[in-house]
Amino acid sequence: MSSIDIPREQWATRAGFILAAVGSAVGLGNIWRFPFLTAESGGAIFVLVYLLLVALIGLPVMLVEFVIGRRSERNPIGAFRRLGHPSWRFAGAIGAFAGFVILSYYSVVGGWVLQYIVASFSGGYGGDAELFFVETASGTNAIVSHAAFMGLVAGIVALGVREGLERAAKVMVPSVIVLLVILAGYGATLPNASTGYQFYLNPDVSTFASDAVSILPAAAGQAFFTLSLGMGVMITYSSYLGEDRDLLNDSIIIVVIDTFIAILAGLVVFPFLASQGVDLETGGGGAGAVFISLATAFESMPAGHLVGGLFFIMLAIAALSSAFSILEVVVSFVTDTFDVDRVPATIGLAAVIFVVGIPTATDLNYLDAYDLFANNILLIVGGLLLSIFIGWVYAPDALEELGQGRGGNGLFDTYWITVVRVVVPLVLLYTVYLAVVEYIEFLQGTFF
Ligand code: PFF
Repeated sequence: MSSIDIPREQWATRAGFILAAVGSAVGLGNIWRFPFLTAESGGAIFVLVYLLLVALIGLPVMLVEFVIGRRSERNPIGAFRRLGHPSWRFAGAIGAFAGFVILSYYSVVGGWVLQYIVASFSGGYGGDAELFFVETASGTNAIVSHAAFMGLVAGIVALGVREGLERAAKVMVPSVIVLLVILAGYGATLPNASTGYQFYLNPDVSTFASDAVSILPAAAGQAFFTLSLGMGVMITYSSYLGEDRDLLNDSIIIVVIDTFIAILAGLVVFPFLASQGVDLETGGGGAGAVFISLATAFESMPAGHLVGGLFFIMLAIAALSSAFSILEVVVSFVTDTFDVDRVPATIGLAAVIFVVGIPTATDLNYLDAYDLFANNILLIVGGLLLSIFIGWVYAPDALEELGQGRGGNGLFDTYWITVVRVVVPLVLLYTVYLAVVEYIEFLQGTFF
């Protein structure tokens, strides 16, 4: 039976929806990807552009997904059919493809986290945090832990234990915040911390215009990635929402929590990187930056291995609830399109995604290649198509839907539809153009 015929359940409580959406949004994107991308992209200027894009593009696109999900009560593939525009299904297909690629390396990084949990409780990170990272992120270690992470995600999806995950998210979000605050406090005491803050928080406004353009694709990709946009996760989650909920209110809560955690992660990572003498102006440590700086911190702070163990467990839960949401979308795409059952589809897809991810487990250049392609291009194209659909094909109904649960449309709604029609498509089109040019250069410089 396809999902079209199943009567729709709803979230039991408002908290259920927020927790699931926050569980998807908060993950490796906040704690691993945001700091390392910031380090790579010039620091404070990147943070500024990222924050602007979250507010100007991220929030409106999240509402686009919420409107589609709640209106259609379907996942992204069924949604367009239900809304009377089945030809737009290809937008859902692009999202599912993005999810497929993202999960293949997200699971590799999730595997690193699993290895760091084990290390925290069994004698630490080998004394040399950099060497430890290299050993974690290469060879058999990386492949085995990638398999373990993927197995966990597939198990959760196959068993359909979303509730367990929501309960875990309830503990995860406050714990992550508390641990990050403790670590940020410790970081503030380190020698040279101010160099880190300077790089992270003090943008050079005089070069803003030229710098902003060059980091636009990275900042836009990160905004989409961290908010779980562009691949239909938020369509799926909001499809279980009742008409009495205020979509705007819920989206603001989700965006604020997600952004807060990312900013906090930077407040931890940058003083540590600076105090370890990493040259921030020249790129700051790459994909390993967070793992290396945190492991060094845990080696030196009081009760560090215990704090480290707890931290990596929380990070694993955050990563699992995000990965879960991605696999959900990919699995529903396949079960809806090809009429296969859920459990075999989950196992088969997890196996294929595992294999596709293997190159990224053995070579960080592949990880960059997958990551740039999926985030800076596919997610943005996904968001672009959804926004064009809502802005130009479905606007009156979309506005009506946004007004539900809020007593009709207000000034914000006019602002929203205008942004979705004009600003979002223009900015994203330009971003995709820049991203494609950059991607071709990256591939030529790295592999040829
Ligand atoms: N938002 C997640 C993170 O920041 O780790 C990753 C992610 C989940 C991206 C779901 C995309 C997605 F659809």
